[in-house]
Amino acid sequence: MKEKLHNIKTRAERDVLEVVDSSRLKDVQVKYLGKKGEITQVLRSMGSLSKEERPIMGNLANQLKVEINSLIENRKLELAQKEKAAQWETEKIDVTLPGSMPLIGQNHPLTLVMEEIKEIFLGMGFTIAHGPEIETDFYNFEALNMPKEHPARDMQDSFYISEEIVLRTHTSPVQIRTMEKVAPEVPLRIIAPGRVYRRDDDATHSPMFHQVEGLAVDKDISMGDLKGTLLLFARQMFGKELKIRLRPSFFPFTEPSAEVDISCVICQGKGCRVCSHSGWLEVLGAGMIHPKVLEISGYDPEEVTGYAFGMGVERIAMLKYGFDDLRLFFSNDLRMLRQF
Ligand code: FA5
Ligand code: MG
Repeated sequence: MKEKLHNIKTRAERDVLEVVDSSRLKDVQVKYLGKKGEITQVLRSMGSLSKEERPIMGNLANQLKVEINSLIENRKLELAQKEKAAQWETEKIDVTLPGSMPLIGQNHPLTLVMEEIKEIFLGMGFTIAHGPEIETDFYNFEALNMPKEHPARDMQDSFYISEEIVLRTHTSPVQIRTMEKVAPEVPLRIIAPGRVYRRDDDATHSPMFHQVEGLAVDKDISMGDLKGTLLLFARQMFGKELKIRLRPSFFPFTEPSAEVDISCVICQGKGCRVCSHSGWLEVLGAGMIHPKVLEISGYDPEEVTGYAFGMGVERIAMLKYGFDDLRLFFSNDLRMLRQF
């Protein structure tokens, strides 16, 4: 039996050394120390030995068991180190590899156009004013010469919060709020950019859209100043060849009033889908401030005059980028947004 144990020891040592993959050490462990392993079997066969031999052999077998166990453990550590070293070798950091860029956002096309519009008017000496999006009936309609039941309210059907509180339908209430603060001082020149809301929804009308209001009050301001300012704006925005057209129109808060079209930039005025084959696209409403509006805001209409305009930012952006459906701006489609 002694010889048998010696034999087991020699084979176990060899087996352990032959293992080069630490996951295979388990097999060696099972082969010698497992439930049916060779040492286990030796220990089981002790019954056949004499009373004197039994403790000696039992001792030897148990010693061998401990030895094989530590052989396996040592080999395990050795292999683990080797495997780690090999891993380091293959996973070494290559500092010449290009880095991975973090995904950063970008400006929405409407934000870009809005910024450009602001830049142009700031360059002409206008300053920026703001007003609330949740507006009173007084500022949104009443003070703009649109009393309750006035038919002009129908064109701006809106979202009412209560009878007196409304989501503003245009940026024109900022005219009143600003004049109230500044009057009777002149000159006054502001633009008021912001969101507005109406019960509209089609390819050129959105329920939420953006306007930039413009307002100038001074002595001797004329319709010519209005036209010159808008032409200068349009040419800076779209280039020198561009034409603008003032069409007589009606707003209760301006007199005379006009709607301003820009020659279609997409077809150079020849007629296309975007301009409904007319060669022109309406981008804003404008006019000379109505004497009643000047008066309610604290100016003397005998002393000063002024012009005002309200342009649709989505319409400008459609022309600028060649969009034939304004709803694209609000579709959150990254394929579109990433192009800007
Ligand atoms: C007005 O809102 C007037 N407050 C403009 C004004 C200001 C006139 C100062 C006189 C003096 P209008 O409803 O036409 O006018 O709208 C102005 C512009 O907003 C339109 O020319 C168009 O470009 C844009 N617009 C109007 N409704 C929508 C809509 N639902 N979606 C996108 N753009 C719109
Ligand atoms: Mg209009």
